[in-house]
Amino acid sequence: MANSRILGIETSCDETSAAVLATENGRPALRSLVILSQDIHQVFGGVVPELASRAHLRTIGPVVDRALAEAGIAAEELDGIAVTAGPGLVGALLVGLMYAKGLAFGLGKPLIGVHHLEGHLFAPALEDPDLEPPFVALLVSGGHTLLLDVEAWGSYRVLGETQDDAAGEAFDKVGTLLGLPYPAGAAIERLAREGRPGRFDFPRPMLRNGYAFSFSGLKTAVLRAVRASADLERDRADLARDFQDAAIEVLVEKTERAVLELGRETAVIAGGVACNRALEAALREKVRGAARVVVAAPRLNTDNAAMIAAAGAWRLARGERSGLDLEPFDSGPLPGARPVTLPP
Ligand code: KG4
Ligand code: ZN
Repeated sequence: MANSRILGIETSCDETSAAVLATENGRPALRSLVILSQDIHQVFGGVVPELASRAHLRTIGPVVDRALAEAGIAAEELDGIAVTAGPGLVGALLVGLMYAKGLAFGLGKPLIGVHHLEGHLFAPALEDPDLEPPFVALLVSGGHTLLLDVEAWGSYRVLGETQDDAAGEAFDKVGTLLGLPYPAGAAIERLAREGRPGRFDFPRPMLRNGYAFSFSGLKTAVLRAVRASADLERDRADLARDFQDAAIEVLVEKTERAVLELGRETAVIAGGVACNRALEAALREKVRGAARVVVAAPRLNTDNAAMIAAAGAWRLARGERSGLDLEPFDSGPLPGARPVTLPP
């Protein structure tokens, strides 16, 4: 499949997304990307699964049609359909999965189920066709925090993961403490820019030991500081700043250590938290001279179907296919991932 056009579908959480990705002479060319974010969940301070599924159901058809129209191709001209199979909310995943299966069956096209996190890993390759493994990847989203050594596409050595909250989840929970709407990552980043650093002495959990992460202690420390504050309005920006500095320091320190330990010359940040410019700048600074840092545009880092099409195109090109019995899953490891223990 040297030249191909793949439809990607993503409905794992609260964005309904579809994209058409062309591959021409081995180079990806994004033909369209439609992302519809469900804002109803803001009212509840988190994603309500039942509401997410119903919203996907209403919008999946129009979103797919729009992606095809913007790409200027008919469904019959597709070479394959890639869909997120998990991890995610099973009811939400089912909507995309059933739609993809229906299309694949009706059109007689190959179907491939994609692991959502593998999608995030492929996102930077959409804009930087020269991005090739091996590289170290910091995968930080609302649901996951993983430090990976990507030896080759499809071959992932797990250096460490979070033992409790995901990095994005920590941003969102601290956002709730500071009275910011969900999801709060981007708002915390903006607030932190106005904050003065160093007022609050927040912990850097597990900074020096190993490659695993922990964010629940940091979140609790912020909670205590919020409770102790006599004037939260006055302290909010400083709290956001010190929280973000603490979280970034841990993420960057471990990524740098992995880069140096493994001698990798590229470091990738992927997942929704990769939108954070302070994180990107801090990693660039840390690994300067040792590795280049590759980060996709924000639109490709938060949940989207282009990254699913990219990962799916790679798997389809290798001859992989999913059957119509493809089922959604709420959790499960990346395909081709195995844990490794590096010297601390
Ligand atoms: O990858 P993603 O879109 O969804 C999941 O797969 O979880 O990631 C969403 C997460 C949310 O927790 C959101 O707060 C966080 O990414 N996020 C950010 C920023 N933009 C989004 N976190 C920190 N700084 C940002 N600028
Ligand atoms: Zn995601």
